[in-house]
Parts: sequence; structure tokens; C-alpha cells
Amino acid sequence: MSAAEILRVEDIDVFYGASQILFGVSFGVEKGQSLALLGRNGAGKSTTMKAIIGIAQAKRGTVSVRGTQVQKFTPDRIAREGVGFVPEDRQIFPEHSVEDNLKIAIKPGVGGRVDWTLEKIYDVFPILASMKGRMGGRLSGGEQQMLTIARTLMGNPDVVLLDEPSEGLAPIIVEKIGELIQRLRDMGTTLIVAEQNMHFCLDIASHVAVIDKGHIVYRGSIDELRANDDVKKRYLAV
Ligand SMILES: Nc1ncnc2c1ncn2[C@@H]1O[C@H](COP(=O)(O)OP(=O)(O)OP(=O)(O)O)[C@@H](O)[C@H]1O
Ligand SMILES: [Mg+2]
Repeated sequence: MSAAEILRVEDIDVFYGASQILFGVSFGVEKGQSLALLGRNGAGKSTTMKAIIGIAQAKRGTVSVRGTQVQKFTPDRIAREGVGFVPEDRQIFPEHSVEDNLKIAIKPGVGGRVDWTLEKIYDVFPILASMKGRMGGRLSGGEQQMLTIARTLMGNPDVVLLDEPSEGLAPIIVEKIGELIQRLRDMGTTLIVAEQNMHFCLDIASHVAVIDKGHIVYRGSIDELRANDDVKKRYLAV
């Protein structure tokens, strides 16, 4: 693990019951990088995310956060180590206002660090500021996705995992979410974005790992992927 690495997944195997889903998955992300974990439907992206946040257990291999092995820790403890997770199914509180959804999530980061205040969230997410009193359940899919991302940031994570942020959203909204993630990246946020949508990631990611049938089949910079038609054709729907 290089000194700058915030998170490293090393050689993990994950099973659901008797069926093996991940086979020796390895990758790392350094501070300020944004890694796209790209792969088709069922490739193992969500399972990888779950293994990092402690919801799925790795039978073999390690997950390290700033050099500390966390693979035996509870999800709550892993979150306190600075790993923020934006789930695929968003999980906002529908009966609570936007602002309450955010306030519930306020937590200092590792070592008491506070990067994100409500004020800063409203600055970066003006749409949430304009609807702070609205019930979470009354938001559109895209607004809920923004609220979920904002809520994760309120916990001041060192690294933010996003599981298919573009999924199920209209193209115009996907573009907005993409711009938002770009802004977070430009602010220096360390990101791991699991996606099927390569085009969505081209403008977001600095680095890429491609997963296929539970194996990492490619790792490189985003520019290297851009130039690699073989990998794009073979593993990604382009
Ligand atoms: N709880 C489970 N029990 C058994 N098998 C599962 C379970 N969850 C997922 N799988 C299987 O594990 C494999 C990887 O699933 P995973 O959800 O990690 O893929 P994914 O890359 O996130 O796909 P998607 O793009 O559809 O979200 C798939 O074959 C899936 O059917
Ligand atoms: Mg998934």
C-alpha cells in the first residue's frame, strides 16, 4: 500500500452461500483520485462495495483504510474509519424533510475533521437549499440521489463510495449528477464510483478498474481506457 493510498482492496474472495462472486479482487485509491469500478450487470460491483463497507464478508484477502485492515470490522466501525457509502437504493427518510435527512447524518470525520457543514452542502447543492422543508419522499429520483450523496458527505468521509449513481435516472438528470460528482472531485474528494455506464465515468474518473464475472480484468488511468478499444468492446457496453 503506497503512503498516499486511502483505501486498498487486496485479493478478496467473496461468496454468497456456496457460490463465489469475487475472485481475488484488488485495487487501491489514493487521496484525491476518483476510481471508476466499471462492469456489466452482475459483474460484482455492488458486492465489491459491500465487501469494503463490511456488509459482505471477504473469505480471503484484506480491505485497508489508511493502512488499517478493516475487513473484520462492523459496518458502523468501517464508516467511522472514514468510508462513506451512497447506496444504490438511496435509503432516504421519506417522512423527514430534506434538512432533517441531512441533519440526522451530521458527524465529524476521522480525528474530528469537519469538511462539510449544512451551509457548504447548500452551496454545492443549491437545489437542496431550495427544497429544505420538503419531505424526502416527495423528491424526484434525481433529487433523492443528490440528497443521498449530500447526506453521505455530512459524515465527513475520507473516501466516498457511490454505487451506480446514474442508475434509473433520465439522461438530463444523469448529466446533472455527473456535473455534481465532477465538482466534488475538483474539490479534492476521494471517490470510488461503481458504474455500468462508461460514458458517465469518462468525465468523472481519474482511474479505472474493470470487473468482469468477479475478476478485475483491467486497471489503468482513464486516458489509457479511452485509448483501449479492445477492453471497451470486450467488457463494457459501448
Ligand atoms: N444476495 C445474493 N445472493 C446470491 N447471489 C447474489 C446476491 N447478490 C448478488 N448476487 C449475485 O452476485 C453476482 C454479482 O452481483 P452484484 O450485485 O455484485 O453485481 P453488480 O455488478 O453490482 O450488478 P448491477 O450492475 O446489476 O448492479 C450476480 O451474479 C448476482 O446474481
Ligand atoms: Mg450493483
